[in-house]
Amino acid sequence: MNNSAPIGVFDSGVGGLTVVREIMRQIPNERIVYFGDTARVPYGSKSKETVTRYSRQIIRFLKTQDVKAIVAACNTASAYALDEIEQEMDIPVIGVVKPGARVALDATRNGKIGVIGTEATINSQIYERYIKEHDANAEVIGKACPLFVPLVEEGLLNDPVTDEIAMRYLSGLIDSGIDTLVLGCTHYPLIRETVGRVMGAGVTLVNPAYETARELRGMLEAERMLNETKPELGTNRYRFFVSDAADKFIRFANSIIKYGILSAKLIHIEEY
Ligand code: DGL
Repeated sequence: MNNSAPIGVFDSGVGGLTVVREIMRQIPNERIVYFGDTARVPYGSKSKETVTRYSRQIIRFLKTQDVKAIVAACNTASAYALDEIEQEMDIPVIGVVKPGARVALDATRNGKIGVIGTEATINSQIYERYIKEHDANAEVIGKACPLFVPLVEEGLLNDPVTDEIAMRYLSGLIDSGIDTLVLGCTHYPLIRETVGRVMGAGVTLVNPAYETARELRGMLEAERMLNETKPELGTNRYRFFVSDAADKFIRFANSIIKYGILSAKLIHIEEY
């Protein structure tokens, strides 16, 4: 495999750009091909079968782009599809759940960990499974926060409405005495301040996006797959593909990433 081949990153839509942003920061030499499934978002309210089928189609598409590794930036896809898909892959594939669970275990002092995410991620109980595999005594308390995704996509990052919803969603977690909270959804790092304010300074927030980029870097290093030379400008360093509404994607993407995304190509993902 050619080390200068890109990393394929996918998500149900725009949220996975929080993971792309971390990869750009932590391993700036890597080229990236991103696919956002903007036609079929949200994944968080869909079934395991559907999310797995969508994820397989996207991986087939990414492989046509000759990627050297794949990152499932979507927590819901990582939770529902990755265990199954991992077995079928001939290139490395990394999800966001395992790195997030690992760091939560490192961070907690009292063994009480909260996880917030989509309904699918929380119902899958995958964070709980991974965490308990490493520490059977850990207590994991999940809470689905479905309104956070549309609030972020409406740009209400610092807004009284978001504060109010956060108070309602998170008050039970505060009462439960957790000292660590996993932001188990692509969008949540964008309202980290609000969540942090509501939870209070005693609770450590874990951002799986950051940890996933670190794990990706470690894996590429260990496998001697890092791109050692910085790609020159205009060499298709970062490419973006979506299944619908490219203009909206570009607008939102540019509010998350400082790189300056000018175009996103439309793909008929059902054909893959
Ligand atoms: N990307 C999804 C996740 O991280 C959130 C949006 C959706 O429901 O598709 O779980």
